[in-house]
Amino acid sequence: MTIILTIETTCDETAAALVTDSLEVLGSVVASQDQLHKKYGGVVPEVASRLHFEQILPVIDSVLRESGISFDKIDAIAVANTPGLSGSLLVGLSAAKALAVAIKKPLIAVNHLQAHIYACKIASGKNPFPCLGLIISGGHSSLYCCANPIEFILLGGTVDDAVGEAFDKVAAMLNLPYPGGPSIQKTAQNGNPSAYNFPRSFANEPDRIAFSFSGLKTAVRYKLVGPGKETDPAEASAKLSAQEIADIAASFQEAAVDAIIVKTLQALDKTGINTLCVGGGVAANSRFRTKIQEATEKNNIQLFIAPINLCTDNAIMGAIAIERYKQGLFESLDLNIYPGLVR
Ligand code: KG4
Ligand code: ZN
Repeated sequence: MTIILTIETTCDETAAALVTDSLEVLGSVVASQDQLHKKYGGVVPEVASRLHFEQILPVIDSVLRESGISFDKIDAIAVANTPGLSGSLLVGLSAAKALAVAIKKPLIAVNHLQAHIYACKIASGKNPFPCLGLIISGGHSSLYCCANPIEFILLGGTVDDAVGEAFDKVAAMLNLPYPGGPSIQKTAQNGNPSAYNFPRSFANEPDRIAFSFSGLKTAVRYKLVGPGKETDPAEASAKLSAQEIADIAASFQEAAVDAIIVKTLQALDKTGINTLCVGGGVAANSRFRTKIQEATEKNNIQLFIAPINLCTDNAIMGAIAIERYKQGLFESLDLNIYPGLVR
């Protein structure tokens, strides 16, 4: 049995897991920084990296203790080194390198976005490749052609904000707590999704594989304060009733979900791929899950969607490193971080 220790520090979760070559999870620990970033209404990169620095060793220590696995049983150290926040990535990579040297075991690089897609394989126990990979998270909204767990080709992504970022920013405008996705979902439950007809960007451009969410965000802003006004949208929404806030949240969520789904169906059609794998924090959204299920069933697409606990950042999905381990794809100690680069 091969055992890999995986480390994940790309954004604001410090996580470590122990996984085997049969994708069994021996242990997993996630230390979220949500409470700390809440008071700023979003992730503060410098604060995130300092907290990773404090948490990384205790997190690794507790995953080892939880699973009863000692260092001498570990066959490789895997770490997400792209994409993400530079300071955050550096903490994980430095810890991984130090451990690899200390226990004299190979170092494996994990692409965080590919890992989000791989969560579908871990959870389903089936091989979803080749597939179209849809990643919808706080930092990315992208579509990939995934031939196998190693070869991903980017087909298109957002031209401006990521969808999760739009959820977080709209939540801030509505005075809903960070992270915005779960708070919008909760508030939207009491709202009317057809109350406002917010834009579904690029829906009428079937040949264009791309997303855009800043127009949707601006449409919500204009709904609150009107075009060209300097007023703070959060001040304007403080004057609205709970029902009005719920209607705006529900209409925003509906437009964001529809935009993702329509562009994904167009990409499936254009590429002729008939299997879809979805991962990333926004894939936890209940409205999205219902609608993507319906849309894929209707279009005869096989759907793999990460279970909710594997949608947001975790180190279990770093089990994708097993695929590289099997092929001997190891890194030297000069491995770098690539904050924006998706290999
Ligand atoms: O994948 P993730 O944990 O981190 C990144 O790699 O970015 O995604 C975090 C994003 C945040 O923007 C958060 O608001 C969003 O995922 N999110 C959701 C939900 N849960 C988390 N968005 C919509 N609905 C949710 N239930
Ligand atoms: Zn992520």
